[in-house]
Amino acid sequence: MTVPSNEKTGHRETEAAPPDLVGRRVEKLESEYGNRYRLEPPPDNKLPKSGMPAEDALGLVSEEVLLDGIPMRNLATFVTTWMEPEAERLIAGSLHTNFIDHAEYPQTAEIEQRCIRMLADLFNAPGETTGARTQGSSEAIMLGALSLKWKWRDRRQAEGKAIDRPNLVFGGDVHVVWEKFCRYFDVEPRIVPLARDKYTIGPEDVEPHVDENTIGVAAVLGTTFTGHSDDITGMNDYLVRLKNEKGIDVPLHIDAASGGFVWPFLYPHTEWDFRLEQVRSINVSGHKFGLVYPGIGWLVFREKSDLPEDLVFYENYLGKRDATFTLNFSTGSAMVLAQYYNFVRYGHDGYRYIMETMQYNARLLANEIVDCGKFALIGSEQDEQLPLVAFQLEGDHSYDEFDVASQLAAERGWMVPAYTLPPNAEHVKIMRALVKQTLGHSLVATLGADIVEACATLEKKGRLHESERKRVKTNTGY
Ligand SMILES: Cc1ncc(COP(=O)(O)O)c(C=O)c1O
Repeated sequence: MTVPSNEKTGHRETEAAPPDLVGRRVEKLESEYGNRYRLEPPPDNKLPKSGMPAEDALGLVSEEVLLDGIPMRNLATFVTTWMEPEAERLIAGSLHTNFIDHAEYPQTAEIEQRCIRMLADLFNAPGETTGARTQGSSEAIMLGALSLKWKWRDRRQAEGKAIDRPNLVFGGDVHVVWEKFCRYFDVEPRIVPLARDKYTIGPEDVEPHVDENTIGVAAVLGTTFTGHSDDITGMNDYLVRLKNEKGIDVPLHIDAASGGFVWPFLYPHTEWDFRLEQVRSINVSGHKFGLVYPGIGWLVFREKSDLPEDLVFYENYLGKRDATFTLNFSTGSAMVLAQYYNFVRYGHDGYRYIMETMQYNARLLANEIVDCGKFALIGSEQDEQLPLVAFQLEGDHSYDEFDVASQLAAERGWMVPAYTLPPNAEHVKIMRALVKQTLGHSLVATLGADIVEACATLEKKGRLHESERKRVKTNTGY
């Protein structure tokens, strides 16, 4: 029987193997040599009637994903692509525990609390506080922004004022999750546009947008686009002034998805965290510079009272009273344990050493790129920045950043994204390479030479064809 082909893969689903092999009793051959799945299209639009041996299932799936990129060559992503073998052992050993089941796995729940306490300390919380483990910064931001909305509503209701028009102020340099929050939870987004040569925001940008209906201002420590930071101290000073002079208390939430594990180690004297009066909550991705594989993020409050009691659900779960503050419920324990592993394994000195190594190699790569005479860096070397290189072509060329990214992918398989910036800097094209733990001195030198080589090829053969440009990663990477 033949069913319609899958339009995307072009596979036809047949039950029988090719006739010439059937003639040679494929069942017998299969029992001796296995791998029958290689003679058949993969199941792709309905659950197969019967299955296949475990080894074959493993083979089929593993062979399919060979077409994916190699994570360590993915210089677009902020997310961790390498962990120590010991951490991987710990992860493999805890894949079968459900984190939310605190009653059955109380020690894992305690380890989550230890991580939150350590982060609160790292972010200079003034005293005992609270927080949550999340799936990533997106969930942490949703929960943090919900807390801002609830707290604003409580304040307004106590004053007998209207609560129907909440707004949230942030720059165009934020991650898409902030707009998502506004749409999902019915809050007006007030987005400060960027401009050419201005890719972060400061107090003068937010001031015209803030009013008594502002639930909070969100500032970014280490933007997705260029790795720089908003002027957080400036925004804090403005909000303190607003509170003292006009009695409008607008909290600041810091999106430290990437920067939260970078600034405390590379720029410990820069105040961006709970040392600043108006900073009430901070999110950070454990799976970015926290150096854990994906699915772990954290939300930390300044004080316990910053988490509205209404957002916490108490229930009797498996015989114990349990409190939850999450958007999802069941999830694995592995990444919580892996985060704790990194904390005890590296400590402050280890994280600092790793961040400094990445920063050193990022500067090395920046020099290689600038020295070839075709590119300029975004920002200056003195800027505080995530360990990455953001750059763009300088002068006239017969090709653009998208061509360079595509040629680089074709020649060496590097995944370096090229993208345009958000409004009103949408005409600015940039490329950006994350320099993570596994991009050491040797590979940085190779990448630098490969970028030069890709430009040389483009100079000889001219711009790429549209079909080749499709290879380019045109979003920022996350
Ligand atoms: C500044 C910023 N905020 C939020 C996010 C979303 O984080 P996650 O992917 O952990 O949900 C990202 C992801 O790149 C980010 O860079």
